[in-house]
Amino acid sequence: MSDSNIDSVLIENRKFEPSSEFASKARIQPADFAALHKKAEQDYTGFWAEQAHDLIDWQTLFNEILDDSNAPHFKWFADGKLNVSYNCLDRHLADKADKTAIIFEGEKGDIRKISYQQLTDEVSQFANALKAHGIEKGDRVVIYMPMTPEAVIAMQACARIGAIHSVVFGGFSAESLRDRINDAGAKMVITADGGTRGGKVVELKAATDKALDHDCPSIENVIVYQRTNHGANMQQGRDIWWHDAIAEQDTVCVPEWVESEHPLFLLYTSGSTGKPKGIQHSSAGYLLGAIATNLWVFDLQDDDVFWCTADVGWITGHTYVAYGPLAAGGTIVIYEGAPTVPDGGRFWKICQDHKVSIFYTAPTAIRALMKLGDELPNAYDLSSIRLLGTVGEPINPEAWMWYHKVIGKEKCPIVDTWWQTETGCNMIAPLPGVVATKPGSCTIALPGIDADVVDEDGNSITEPNKGGYLVIKKPFPAQLRTIWGDEQRYVDTYWPKFGGKYYLAGDSARKDADGYFWIMGRIDDVLNVSGHRLGTMEVESALVAHERVAEAAVVGYPHDVKGEAIFAYVVLRGVRPEGGIDEALTKELRNWVGEQIGPIAKPDQIRYADNLPKTRSGKIMRRLLRNIARGEEITSDTSTLENEDILLQLEGKA
Ligand code: PRX
Repeated sequence: MSDSNIDSVLIENRKFEPSSEFASKARIQPADFAALHKKAEQDYTGFWAEQAHDLIDWQTLFNEILDDSNAPHFKWFADGKLNVSYNCLDRHLADKADKTAIIFEGEKGDIRKISYQQLTDEVSQFANALKAHGIEKGDRVVIYMPMTPEAVIAMQACARIGAIHSVVFGGFSAESLRDRINDAGAKMVITADGGTRGGKVVELKAATDKALDHDCPSIENVIVYQRTNHGANMQQGRDIWWHDAIAEQDTVCVPEWVESEHPLFLLYTSGSTGKPKGIQHSSAGYLLGAIATNLWVFDLQDDDVFWCTADVGWITGHTYVAYGPLAAGGTIVIYEGAPTVPDGGRFWKICQDHKVSIFYTAPTAIRALMKLGDELPNAYDLSSIRLLGTVGEPINPEAWMWYHKVIGKEKCPIVDTWWQTETGCNMIAPLPGVVATKPGSCTIALPGIDADVVDEDGNSITEPNKGGYLVIKKPFPAQLRTIWGDEQRYVDTYWPKFGGKYYLAGDSARKDADGYFWIMGRIDDVLNVSGHRLGTMEVESALVAHERVAEAAVVGYPHDVKGEAIFAYVVLRGVRPEGGIDEALTKELRNWVGEQIGPIAKPDQIRYADNLPKTRSGKIMRRLLRNIARGEEITSDTSTLENEDILLQLEGKA
């Protein structure tokens, strides 16, 4: 862990109690909260069993609760059977068939409302289409879709038949898509002709074709949803239009009852190496976490309209769009496009028009919209909003206060939710009717989650504000089960320390005198750009794949909107450009990385040097590169550098 991660620079003393107006109506009252915590402390597995019993509809009720005999490969509720799609859809039909499940708005303003009955029918019909194209329980299906209801329908349809989906964010490139398809061994891709974002067409089908063009042997079919209608090249025998695939299919599809541990989905995320890892989630444990946190943290109630702005390509879009709110019988909003079309008031207009009551977004979006001024949000009626949330990165107190004042009108609690792709659901977050909030802190762990900050030896750090490793000390139902196809990497990444007893989150954190958690950043080489995880190695691998690049090192530096931006140091094959500047090449390399990974991975800055700063053993001194990128004074001892004279070039002074 680097020193800069351990030092805490931010001490924030403001504290906001939930308003009595909010608290009086909240699902979880202080007495419930105390009871939940007490039960979880006294009878940990019994606590989760009770929740699983109450919140999930089982086809076969479980007897076993937690099997930790093969730790860290935990099993929860293993002898139970269920279906996640049944829990999200069918079970609501008795009393909510006509209730709106999804309010969809396209970037161009087209609106669709889908009831629970309609959604059940559409999911079932599409599930039958998948079966008709040979998809069976356990098969992997990659979903590469725009943010339309069909993305959720595709996910739910996979869940309905026990197929394992892996959603790939539509902003990822053909190369990234191909890697994920191959790693998962997927049989099918579900995509669209295109999506609309920022007024432009996102070429999803073209990228899919490129991905499948070579070295992608497992794919048998591609189902293409017609969204943009701008012309798609359909390969005969392989590609089928969505509307043709469902045309003859029945709207009834009996759910496939799967074991609790049956994988519901894989979701690829970045780690410390160049290869993204397929995080594998279970059916029952994941569903339980998703439902419980939608009820506890988002206080989701029958008349709420919940808008989580995340794309289904990220875990947030799984747990707080596609699964959790539906399993809890809620109404969700899905918006296809960019927040600034036609202007930066779009989010607020959507909140007004659809009477959004719970709004959940990322600090990067809040900062970007805050920069545009208060006039835009003030032009809309935001009185329907009663709860706000943030996720993905630490929120700076300035953005928190703006969110609180200008969007929340000082009456809405803000739930700052700490969690990860791997944890499946919120882990550390306030229960909004009970826990007072502090700008920049995700507050305290949820009932049944044993989070702590520990030192190198795994001892709890009791001194307030002293940084350490964020760990989860007991297994919990929604946690990842493994990394797809790489058990060893699972063990090595998440359980490498403390005798393999604690889940190592990969973040550093501190606890203040009230026991509130403050996340301080990653301890590994993972960047957080606009709330999205990217491995420095991934960007480096992409750069060195360019014919002109010999070596590359990538670090993050603070950015006032993105949170973190990417700084790349590049050693070229052949001569270094004059003065270290070559704008044309910089543009080419940025685009190249965009093509290799996706536009979010484009380096913000590229600096050319004859070499990278290496110790005599050949190790790149990343701390030094971080100092330079951040404009900080170089604190490390540069005398251990093999090539000290390289510093001037790295600093852009030669
Ligand atoms: O560093 C933490 C940061 O995002 C990482 C997880 O990224 P990902 O798996 O992409 O999931 C993002 C959405 C859950 C964490 O290791 N992070 C997430 N939420 C917060 C956060 N950092 C500070 N505060 C948060 N609320």
